[in-house]
Amino acid sequence: MLNRRNALKVAAAGGAAALFPWDRLTGAGSEAVASSAATAEAAPIVPFAHAMPLPQTLAPTSRTLTSDLYEIRMREAQVEIVKGLTSKVRTYNGTFPGPTIKAVQNREVVVRQINELEVNTAVHLHGAHVLSEHDGLPMDTIVAGGERTYHYPNKQAAASLWYHDHAHHLEAENVYMGLHGLYLISDHNERSLPLPTGTYDVPLVIRDARVETDGTLLYTRPSDCPNMLVNGKERPYFQVAARKYRFRVYNACANRYFKLRFADGIEFTQIGADGGLLEKPVRKTELLMLGGERVDIVVDFSRYRVGQSVVLENPGAQTTERPEVMRFDIVRRAADYSFVPHRLTTYAPQPAATVERDFEIRTFPAMTINGLSYDPNRVDIQTRLGTTEVWTVRNVEAPLPAGKPDFHLWHSFHTHLTFFRVLERNGQPADARDVGLKDTVTLGPGETVKIAMTWGPYTGQYLYHCHQLGHSSGGQMGRIDVVA
Ligand code: C2O
Ligand code: CU
Repeated sequence: MLNRRNALKVAAAGGAAALFPWDRLTGAGSEAVASSAATAEAAPIVPFAHAMPLPQTLAPTSRTLTSDLYEIRMREAQVEIVKGLTSKVRTYNGTFPGPTIKAVQNREVVVRQINELEVNTAVHLHGAHVLSEHDGLPMDTIVAGGERTYHYPNKQAAASLWYHDHAHHLEAENVYMGLHGLYLISDHNERSLPLPTGTYDVPLVIRDARVETDGTLLYTRPSDCPNMLVNGKERPYFQVAARKYRFRVYNACANRYFKLRFADGIEFTQIGADGGLLEKPVRKTELLMLGGERVDIVVDFSRYRVGQSVVLENPGAQTTERPEVMRFDIVRRAADYSFVPHRLTTYAPQPAATVERDFEIRTFPAMTINGLSYDPNRVDIQTRLGTTEVWTVRNVEAPLPAGKPDFHLWHSFHTHLTFFRVLERNGQPADARDVGLKDTVTLGPGETVKIAMTWGPYTGQYLYHCHQLGHSSGGQMGRIDVVA
């Protein structure tokens, strides 16, 4: 029987050579390794056994004129993910996923994070523009029994963010085991739009998992993770009214991409991306998302009769997996005065780039960016506050052999501190797939993207990395220092 605690020690000691925890366990770094840490049997999958819960909204412990103060305890909890089984998970405040923080533009949020777990943690607010000391950098850990208070200024536009663990070498397992929660910023512009709100504005936090027959939630390779969870429950159903809904879709998987489409192929409207609302809505029938990405969509269920259902599927599932992600049951009618306007927001024009940089992401022989594994003491890039740069990022792997169920050769590219726009994909101008302000972009095997960002609004030490968290934990991460 393989021992994960020992594996983590090996990871901490082995550093740069580390690939995936499950590959370290089997003593190899190749995807050809057949065995994995998954030794017991996966629990049988029964879709639509749970009603989909909504993550609870966290109430501030106090408010001042300028700030809302929150307190979160990171602790283990027992939760039901698969019907009838109990799984031990790592949580923020005992819930899986963690509680949602609702922030308002220009009102500071202060979160006191208390670590009652047995592992180190670091809390990163993904997509937020925050000072370096509040960014949850890998070495700025909260040791077991410790605490830290993070300050979030919320000077940015409305956006669907999330907070999650970022402790050095541990983020993949910590996030997988439950350390993630939502953080929604609203602003005046968003509130002035006629979009669906209140009970019609619903998060869908989607992720894979492996729950075994005894209830164990096991951290292992994504191709051994047959469960698909929405808001913490295996393939739930959700009762909706025959009207429009806004869904904030999150890929919270540690290590895999998914695609999403409705089983009957209906169109929906994308209104937002990682960095907030799109300038103009885009009609789509399918999404492709990798871990860390967010897409806000509006779905109109008024096309269905009360009593009908529609399943949301993952066409990116392996052939051995069930494609269903969740089911929407249309159970009542409701008045609907919401609509998606032609114009949602206006972005500030991006200044012309003065710096260009190239990045190569590799899986073998190690998880690297430009041949290097993350070293917190090495400055990979130094740039000046306010500099606009164009980065060309290449996933240099050859395309996957046909039919191979493997998520490892997919990479993504995530920047802290700032959003970017995707200019090009594979030499072509970016299309609807890469629309909006982004902080995470997908790179399929062999793909290249060109992205542009302006570094700011703060100086300090930040990160860029692949958001396949098994990869970033294994070293596919770099340090960027923004200087005055
Ligand atoms: Cu969502 Cu550096 O991470
Ligand atoms: Cu990667």
